[in-house]
Amino acid sequence: MNTFSRIIGTGGYLPKNVVTNADLEKTVNTSDQWIRERTGIEQRHVAEDGEHTVDLAENAARLAIEAAGISPQDIDLIIVATTTADQVFPSTACLLQSRLDIHGCPAFDIQAVCTGFVYGLSVADKFIRTGTSKCALVVGAETFSRIIDWTDRNTCVLFGDGAGAVVLKADNTPGILSTHLHADGDFAKLLHVPSGVSTNYPAVQEGRAYVEMAGSEVFKMAVKILGQIVDETLEANGLERQDIDWLVPHQANIRIIVATAKKLRMPMDRVVQTIAKHGNTSAASIPLALDHAVRANDIKAGELLLLEGFGGGFTWGSALIRY
Ligand code: UT7
Repeated sequence: MNTFSRIIGTGGYLPKNVVTNADLEKTVNTSDQWIRERTGIEQRHVAEDGEHTVDLAENAARLAIEAAGISPQDIDLIIVATTTADQVFPSTACLLQSRLDIHGCPAFDIQAVCTGFVYGLSVADKFIRTGTSKCALVVGAETFSRIIDWTDRNTCVLFGDGAGAVVLKADNTPGILSTHLHADGDFAKLLHVPSGVSTNYPAVQEGRAYVEMAGSEVFKMAVKILGQIVDETLEANGLERQDIDWLVPHQANIRIIVATAKKLRMPMDRVVQTIAKHGNTSAASIPLALDHAVRANDIKAGELLLLEGFGGGFTWGSALIRY
């Protein structure tokens, strides 16, 4: 009998502190109208000093574990997708493992920026399909605010902090039907933080390792590539556009989301939209959107979900899921 993985619980967590567009109007040359019209964002959540990626991850993970009706000790694989790890090492996944009082199972981070959660889901699915794991915790968690130059209007209006999590369990029926992962490092410089441990480390130490983005070029590529991955996912599963019940997209820009929905000829009320309240939370955006729609009782058991994301690298990917 084949083994598949199924999502049996979701969780999401946002820091309490909210930064509105009106707040940003006071610090950079921008306007609420510009941000809403060009991005769809109204506000974002920003972690307080002392609140770290693992704190957000733990809150989201505990809610997913509770929703799944399992105990943390049932988990035998932990993957955290993050660009904003608490420390150089150990991984945020190991820090989370300790918080949850889980011992011995593999735990590691995945770095694929905004596509990180889809990458994590794909890896966990393969661990389960091969019989290596039976119950996986996959988290997307970010304190992206820490790598934002809050004086740069090109980027600071876009991003926010948060975490989303799912528990995946081995099952005889899918579950995750397919995942599709891609990357092309030739586009690295269009969206990047040009400093790290091995390059320009003083910038990291001085807290000036910031996101730089060629916004409109990234925008055009995102629209094109997300259209392609929709086709690739449908084709791989022998499905038609109308078979999809819900699009759960990465929340980078409402105009990108609308373009992908158009490609699927999907009405916007079947597209999960959290961008207005969350902004772009990078690896956390897709699991936060999924959790939001599950808890709102919009997504129901048996429905077919298409998750898709695009981000720095470039990386992009999708997951087709029978919920
Ligand atoms: O999650 C990873 C993937 N990331 C993305 O997919 C993001 C992709 N890019 C985008 O979402 C959009 O390109 C942005 C929202 C970043 C920018 O929107 P745009 O429609 O592409 O604007 P633009 O960069 O072409 O700039 C248009 C104008 C410029 O002024 P001029 O040169 O026309 O006078 C900008 O300087 O808007 C100006 N502008 C702003 N004005 C007010 C740029 N940022 C702002 C701002 N407030 N925050």
